[in-house]
Amino acid sequence: MPGLIERYRHRLPFEDGDPVVSMGEGSTPLVQAPALSERVGASVWLKLEGLNPTGSFKDRGMCCAVSAALREGSETVICASTGNTAASAAAYAARAGMRGVVIVPEGKIATGKLAQALVYGARVIALQGNFDEALTLVRELADRHPIALVNSVNDFRLEGQKTAAFELVEELAGELDGLCIPVGNAGNVTAYWKGFQEVGASPRLFGFQAEGAAPLVLGHPVEKPETVASAIRIGNPARWEEAMAAFTASRGQVRAVSDEEILEAWEFLARREGIFCEPASAASVAGLIKYGPDGCERLVCVLTGNGLKDPDTALSRAGGVIPCTAEISAVEAAVLG
Ligand code: F0G
Repeated sequence: MPGLIERYRHRLPFEDGDPVVSMGEGSTPLVQAPALSERVGASVWLKLEGLNPTGSFKDRGMCCAVSAALREGSETVICASTGNTAASAAAYAARAGMRGVVIVPEGKIATGKLAQALVYGARVIALQGNFDEALTLVRELADRHPIALVNSVNDFRLEGQKTAAFELVEELAGELDGLCIPVGNAGNVTAYWKGFQEVGASPRLFGFQAEGAAPLVLGHPVEKPETVASAIRIGNPARWEEAMAAFTASRGQVRAVSDEEILEAWEFLARREGIFCEPASAASVAGLIKYGPDGCERLVCVLTGNGLKDPDTALSRAGGVIPCTAEISAVEAAVLG
């Protein structure tokens, strides 16, 4: 499968001959969700962004941001992150032969993401502060030094991420009424809207934030955001105005779901659809279940990250294992239970 710059070069700010840092990102599966469709009374598809090279949608944006940084001659890329951006930036920096530096809120990112950033060889800085503080600091740092900032304040990130909208429009032949998507820093929903507009599509955008980290819903920043969905534990989204404009223009909405609703949806996806996403991703499905399809007949829920990213939350929710000695009678009892 070609990477997304190859696939969509005609719609991206890259010329033939520009350096391309790619790992075959994009072109992710779009699968039907029969159990969820029945539950909400509409046709629902799931966009499996957790199947990107580092396990999240960030790879689409990072492919473009790091390729552009390389073209500009940068030697270092930096980002603030709740985990996935860090993993992706670290991987693409490694592939580009650049230094990767990531700043994450100490103790607040999922284990798999931390492991990824470290293994890809990034310099990982654990900040005694939250994501919003980390982003403010890296913005200042990037102003002071010749370091490429690859958070979604970088327009190349949105360029890459808008390609997911192209894929949806192509695969559903334009017949898409609504898109359900988790919202954190609000870059991804902004990118989807840009992509839809570029190909003349305008599905309604339904964004979902976690109740304890719902600044867009409340209409003001949240100083101490809290949620089990650590990826979207963000109190002051960088793309605030653009995201709100997209919700309005698409006749959509941004609404909140509780941690309990997120975890219920997350478990439903695993047990009924066989799909294991990370908790933040399940906010899209939790929102659809909670608020209903709102008159839409065909909807896509974006599952932004892979469930393997956050084994700790998974194991704390899932049932325990059944211990068993290596004897046929014990195994028989355990299996037939
Ligand atoms: N889902 C996942 C799994 C994420 O990692 C993020 C954001 C979002 C949804 C929300 O996307 O920020 O564009 O609105 N993660 C960022 C990070 C903040 O640092 O990895 P958004």
